[in-house]
Amino acid sequence: MQIISTITALRHRLRDEEPVVFVPTMGNLHEGHLDLVRVAREHGRCVVVSIFVNPLQFGVNEDFSKYPRTLEQDCKLLEQSGVDVVFAPSEQDLYAQPQQFMVDPPAIANELCGAFRPGHFRGVATVVLKLFNIVQPQMAVFGKKDFQQLHIVRQMVAQLNLPIEVIGGETVRAADGLALSSRNQYLNPTERTEAAFLCRTLANMGKAMRGQAALNQAKLNSPRDFSSLEQEARDALSARGWKVEYIAIRCSSTLLPLTAGDKDVVILAAVWLGKTRLIDNLETNLQGGLS
Ligand code: PAJ
Repeated sequence: MQIISTITALRHRLRDEEPVVFVPTMGNLHEGHLDLVRVAREHGRCVVVSIFVNPLQFGVNEDFSKYPRTLEQDCKLLEQSGVDVVFAPSEQDLYAQPQQFMVDPPAIANELCGAFRPGHFRGVATVVLKLFNIVQPQMAVFGKKDFQQLHIVRQMVAQLNLPIEVIGGETVRAADGLALSSRNQYLNPTERTEAAFLCRTLANMGKAMRGQAALNQAKLNSPRDFSSLEQEARDALSARGWKVEYIAIRCSSTLLPLTAGDKDVVILAAVWLGKTRLIDNLETNLQGGLS
């Protein structure tokens, strides 16, 4: 495995490589990231992982400065996972000039997480496009854990005609269901135990939705929207001391609110447990769709 920190050296190294499969990360790697690497290895000969904590996607009061940076340990894990190249550029190299050209994502980037993190997806889309231009992969793997990010990257690739296949990797979870995240280490032991309540809440919502959709199909009842389920989940979390940013039931292919006929659904949430912001989501299928 080679660790490369400059754009010039990376371009030189990848000159004759094809297909290149790319996994962008901000480091502090866990099993979730390593699972994306495993998926990448199934898809291509040369696997490139980038590690870069991107200042453009952090708000002024967010955790950019305290975001865990563990390059040495990350490289050990990546070496054991069979990665070919780690690209770990410096901020000066990636942003050699002030980044004035930015990717302006569509309106969906201002909803859900975007409503609480203004400019976040602009920063993500811009760095991902830069990294795509530098690495020039044939394929790229992103986690479904960041469902809205995956959606926006897919839209960017489609609308800007980038010759890259985007692959979504399943969310890797701890034994109690908590989605793995670099930010989980901010949780104290009591919070860490409590944190699994989030995915349990989403699972209960999924079950209730499928139940309601089945009733709907049987024409016993016709609940057209699930806003009461969203509200119940917010109330349940708030009652236990969580601070809810959003819990939303959306169409999984557009991320827009559900409309008649939608079958593929995703429940998305962002919540604070103490000083830690957690996100999670659950995809589910309402066989008959909403009528
Ligand atoms: P980061 O948070 O490091 O995540 C890198 C990739 O790992 C993302 O595609 C994310 O969705 C995926 N990932 C994180 N936790 C996961 C889990 N538990 N299971 C499966 N995949 C998981 O996302 C970013 O970095 C940045 O925004 C980036 C795309 C690198 C741009 O800066």
